[in-house]
Amino acid sequence: MAAEHILILDFGSQTTALIGRRIRELGIYGEIIPGDSALSEEILDGVKGIILSGSPESVNGSGLKADRRIYECNLPLLGICYGLHLMTVDLGGAVQPLPAREAGGVEVRIGDRPPADMKSPNWDAMAFFSGFLWRDDLNLWNLLMNKKSLSRLNVWMSHSDSITKLANNFVEIGTSAKGYPAIVYHREKPWFGVQFHPEVSHCERGAELLGAFVRDVCHCAANWSVKSYLEETLGTLKQKAADRTVLLLISGGIDSTVAAALLLKALPAKNIHLMYMDTGLMRKNETAAVKQTLESLGAQNIHIIQCQDEFLSALSGVETPEAKRKIIGDMFIKIQEREVERLALPKDYILAQGTLYTDLIESGKGVGSKAHTIKTHHNVGTPLVEAKRAAGALLEPLDKLYKDEVRLLGALLSLDDEVLHRHPFPGPGLAVRILGEVNSEKCEALREADSIFIEELKKRRNPLTQKTLYNEIWQAFAVLLPVRSVGVSGDERKYGWVLSLRAVTSADGMTAGVYNFNMNDIIEISTRITNEVPAIGRVVYDVSSKPPATIEWE
Ligand code: XMP
Repeated sequence: MAAEHILILDFGSQTTALIGRRIRELGIYGEIIPGDSALSEEILDGVKGIILSGSPESVNGSGLKADRRIYECNLPLLGICYGLHLMTVDLGGAVQPLPAREAGGVEVRIGDRPPADMKSPNWDAMAFFSGFLWRDDLNLWNLLMNKKSLSRLNVWMSHSDSITKLANNFVEIGTSAKGYPAIVYHREKPWFGVQFHPEVSHCERGAELLGAFVRDVCHCAANWSVKSYLEETLGTLKQKAADRTVLLLISGGIDSTVAAALLLKALPAKNIHLMYMDTGLMRKNETAAVKQTLESLGAQNIHIIQCQDEFLSALSGVETPEAKRKIIGDMFIKIQEREVERLALPKDYILAQGTLYTDLIESGKGVGSKAHTIKTHHNVGTPLVEAKRAAGALLEPLDKLYKDEVRLLGALLSLDDEVLHRHPFPGPGLAVRILGEVNSEKCEALREADSIFIEELKKRRNPLTQKTLYNEIWQAFAVLLPVRSVGVSGDERKYGWVLSLRAVTSADGMTAGVYNFNMNDIIEISTRITNEVPAIGRVVYDVSSKPPATIEWE
């Protein structure tokens, strides 16, 4: 019997992963599967409730359909946006395109009558609505007597279709500003639907809504934790890999480092090969630091591939960001295949990588067959990875985790704070932080400047919080602009490069704000950089938030 969990049917919405995330925050496990999966006994084992996600498609068009077993298996259902539309058309209602989209923040008016048929109350509906709409008034009798209620809710919507006829036995309890059904429930069954996205952080009471569903309606046990994940994963790794050779591709980032720590804890170190490419586009001393970390974890087979020249000559003369990314992606694949061949591992070796849950979902792998690809992560789909996946010889031990959980897991595996709280670094490395053409002199100048910037951020503290500036900032780095400007050095005129410093605050990199430096800090850091890096003549600070800018410049 599988552990209790919530099943999330993914119809391709960009925010499906967030549904799982919110539920996970309650200590409850949510399994995301393609929306059109056949719901076998095996899949339904341990399931306490089903959430139907949103989708960029229309139910009247080419959108996926859910297995009709969802209506027969006696489980609570919550339809979100498209998920609600699907329930509506499946159960006798209708959905039509709107004259104009409802998108962004929308006010929903809540009906002022309790959500129950007074003669035979739907207790699940009472529990659900008192969990987020009437949570201040937990006495159900007060609720029945139409006592205090929340009359308006500021939610987050993104839809171009809407319900024009409710499904049979459904009741509307919330209505959007434009008059469309926003919250509905079934008179008798524990079935609910919302037109908005409760998983999005700026949806008022969204987390409470999901919490009320999984806890108060589904009664799902809260027994998920990173610690339990660790124990379970160690067992699975031992069972899957046993005595086989495992090759893990290391990028130097936190994900692959935690994956390495996990493999080294579960399996004999002699069987584990760790391969890392020094592309010449890394930060200062990065390769040495990666090696040291892996050694401290007990790694015995570390393969550092020195391929700086290959990357730099492939990038020579190339100026546009797209061309640079493509060259780097292709080069990664080429060198990876060549070097793996050279290692001459046993034919049946297992390939491992530190893919996260969000990587898989964002790149459309393992989720709905029509899921929209948002970002292509180079590690998810190289030919080598695909071949190993097809052969059932791919291990992705972090594939159920979100980023912050990987940090917790790393801490349980005794990784250094320094490694766990390192700022993110893009796969294409310094190539996307040197605007225009990349060459080794520019890499060298940027590496030096960036390292001074980071060193200073680690030294300086915010007097109010006592945290180092490095720990207050989500991501900081330097960018070399393809611009030179005039300056003076001693008595001479100097024509040096312009460097931009970037420091942002963020929760997940999806949006970002500019870090509000004390001006003295930024002036002192700039002075140190221009004194110590002769190629740089001028320093500027980037004050653009995301959106409209992105975090990286290319
Ligand atoms: P943007 O620039 O899109 O970045 O606002 C959001 C976050 O993603 C990182 N980033 C990348 N990471 N490969 C990666 O592995 C990439 O091509 C890439 N581009 C951006 C960026 O550093 C930030 O943390």
